[in-house]
Amino acid sequence: MAEQGFTPPTSEWYRPSADMVAQANVPDYETVYDSARQDLAAFWAERAETLDWYRKWDQVLDDSNKPFYKWFVGGKTNMALNALDRHVNTWRRNKLAIIWEGEDGEQISLSYWRLWQEVNKFANVLRSMGVAKGDRVTIYMGRVPEIAIAMLACAKIGAPHSVVYGGFSEQALASRIEDAQSKVLITCDGAWLRGKIVRLKDTVDEAVQRSPVVETVIVVKRTGHDIAMESGRDYWYHDLMALPIASTQAETEIMDAEDPLFILYTSGTTGKPKGVLHTHGGYQVYTSTTLEWAFDIKEEDRWWCAADPGWITGHSYIVYAPLILGATSIIYEGAPTYPYPDRWWKIVADYGVSILYTAPTAIRGLMRFGEAWPRRHDLSSLRLLGSVGEPINPEAWRWYHRVIGGERCPIIDTWWQTETGGFMITPLPSVGLKPGSATRPFPGIDVDIVDDDGVPVAANEDGNLVIKSPWPSMIRTVYGDDERFISQYWEKYRDQGWYLAGDTARRDEDGYLWVIGRNDDVLKVSGYRLGTAEVESGLVSHSAVAESAVIGIPDELRGNKIFAYCILVEGVDSSDALEAELKAHVRHEVGPIAVPAQIEFVDNLPKTRSGKIMRRVLKAQALGQPLGDLSTLED
Ligand code: WTA
Repeated sequence: MAEQGFTPPTSEWYRPSADMVAQANVPDYETVYDSARQDLAAFWAERAETLDWYRKWDQVLDDSNKPFYKWFVGGKTNMALNALDRHVNTWRRNKLAIIWEGEDGEQISLSYWRLWQEVNKFANVLRSMGVAKGDRVTIYMGRVPEIAIAMLACAKIGAPHSVVYGGFSEQALASRIEDAQSKVLITCDGAWLRGKIVRLKDTVDEAVQRSPVVETVIVVKRTGHDIAMESGRDYWYHDLMALPIASTQAETEIMDAEDPLFILYTSGTTGKPKGVLHTHGGYQVYTSTTLEWAFDIKEEDRWWCAADPGWITGHSYIVYAPLILGATSIIYEGAPTYPYPDRWWKIVADYGVSILYTAPTAIRGLMRFGEAWPRRHDLSSLRLLGSVGEPINPEAWRWYHRVIGGERCPIIDTWWQTETGGFMITPLPSVGLKPGSATRPFPGIDVDIVDDDGVPVAANEDGNLVIKSPWPSMIRTVYGDDERFISQYWEKYRDQGWYLAGDTARRDEDGYLWVIGRNDDVLKVSGYRLGTAEVESGLVSHSAVAESAVIGIPDELRGNKIFAYCILVEGVDSSDALEAELKAHVRHEVGPIAVPAQIEFVDNLPKTRSGKIMRRVLKAQALGQPLGDLSTLED
C-alpha cells in the first residue's frame, strides 16, 4: 500500500553541465560504482583511510554472524577525534564549524577551535557528574548550538546519546528515557518557534515524573522564561560550564569501532519506539563519504541542512558528517516563515549558503507563498540543492530547481532512513536527473526491487525495496531488542540475507529508482516519521476512547495527513467538542506532529480473524477506492 500515487515522468531529463562534472569530487559515477562492487572491503578500507584512527582495523567487514555485521573490526577511534580533535591541529582551527541563527535574529558562530573547547568543557562537566563510557544520555532540546555541543561531548566520553526531537511530548519522551535508562537528561528552558516559546522544561518535568530513572537534568537557558528547577536534580548549563572542573582540555575516550555512538528512536510498526543503534567506526566513514561525494563538499562551502538535529538527517548531516569533513554547517533555530515567508532566502543570502538540503514538505510550504519572496534575495551563492524525507513531487522539484536554484543547481534527492545512517540512493552532481527520482544507488550499495518471494520485478512495476549487501553505517540492532531487529528488517528475506527497507519502489527503463512510499504501518507526515500505533496509543490513552485505528491519506502539502477512527467507550457520545479534546490530547501525549487532521467516530473497525486492524480497508474506503481482497476480514 503505497502512500503516494503519482505517475513519474520518467523521460524528463536534467543533465549536469560540463563545468559541474569537471569540478565534481566524483566526476564519473559509473567507474566508482563498479570499483566498489568489485571489491567492497577494499573500497570501504580506502574510504576509512581518509579518517584518523587510534588503531587501524584488522578486518574491514566481519559477516560471520549475520545480520549482526561488524565493520572495521579491531579498529580504535572516536567520532570526536575525527569531527573535532584532528582539525584543531591544522589551520582549520580558525575556520567556522557552526554558524547559528536564532529565530529572534541572534547570531553565534563557533570556529573549530571554539567548538572543540566548548565540547571539552562540557565533556568534563558530564564526567564530573558521573557519566561514564557506555552510559546513555538523553538530549531533548531546541535547535541551539548547545545541542551539537552536547552530542559531541557525549561522543567524546563514549556515552551514547539518545536525542529526542523537541517536538515530541511527555509520553514520547518518557518512553524513550525509560527504554534507554538514561540517568542524565540535557534540555533547554524553552525553544523559540514562530515567535512563541515551546516550554521544553515543563515537558521534561512531566516526563521525568513518568520515568523517574533520570537523576540529573542539565538546562540550557534559551528563552529565559520562568521555569521550575528542582534542587539536587536540575542544574543550569551555564553554571556548570563556569565551574573550574569545566576545563578546556579533555581526554577523548578511545572507542572500539563497534562501540555505540548513539541510539535514535524511530517509529516502527508497533507503538513501542525502536532505538536504532549506530556505532563510532562505520558511521563516521559512511556519513562523511556520502556527504563529500553526493553534495560535493569543498573547503569553501557553506552547507545548510535545514533539518532538526533531533532526527537522523540532523545527526548525520548537520552535526557529524560536515564536521568530519571540516565544513561550515549552518543551523537555524526557528520556522521558515517567521517573521515572513522569505526567512530562509534571507539566510541563504546573508551567509552565502552554497548548498541547501531540506524536505519536500518545506519546499511545497514555501512555494505556496509565490516567487516574489525568494526573488527579493540574492540566491546566487547556491550551487547545489538537496531533498530528503519523502518522495519529491515533480512540481515541487521543478520549482525548487528553477526559482531557488536558478536552473543551475542540481537537485540531490537522497533516499535513506534512520536505520541506514546515510544516503543510500542519491545522485552525485555528475549524474543526470529526473524530477522525482532519487536516481541511482550510492557506490557500495546494492539495491533491488523485488516481489514478496524475492523475485526482481519488471521495469516500472512496484515492488519492495531491499538492500542486498551490508554497508558501514547500517543499523547494528534495535537497542535492547535483537529479536525485533531481526524480525523487522531481516526476517522477510531471511534466505537471501537482504535488508527490508519497508518502502515500495520501482525502477524505470533507464535503471533509475523511484521510491513511492512506505508499505508498512509507518507514516510520513510533513517528512516526519510516525507509527500509526503511536498515534493510536495516544488516542486510546484518553478515557473516552476504547479503540482506534489511524491511516495516512495523501495530502498535497504534507505528503500525508493523519485520519483517525475511534470507537468510544460505552456511554460516551461523540461530539465536535470531543474531537477537539482528543486532538489536544494527542498533541499533549505524543506531540503536535501526531495530531490527526480528522477523527471519525465509528462503531467497529475492519479486522482480520486474528484481530489485526485492516488499515488497508479503511484507507481504500476513505479514498473511495475498491476495497480489494476481503477474504481475511472477520465481519
Ligand atoms: C522516506 C529520513 C522518497 C522513506 C532520512 C523512508 C524518502 C523513510 C526519501 C525514512 C526520498 C526518505 N524519497 N522517500 N528521498 N527519503 N524517504 O527514518 O519512506 O525519518 O523509508 O529517515 O522516509 O524516514 P526516516
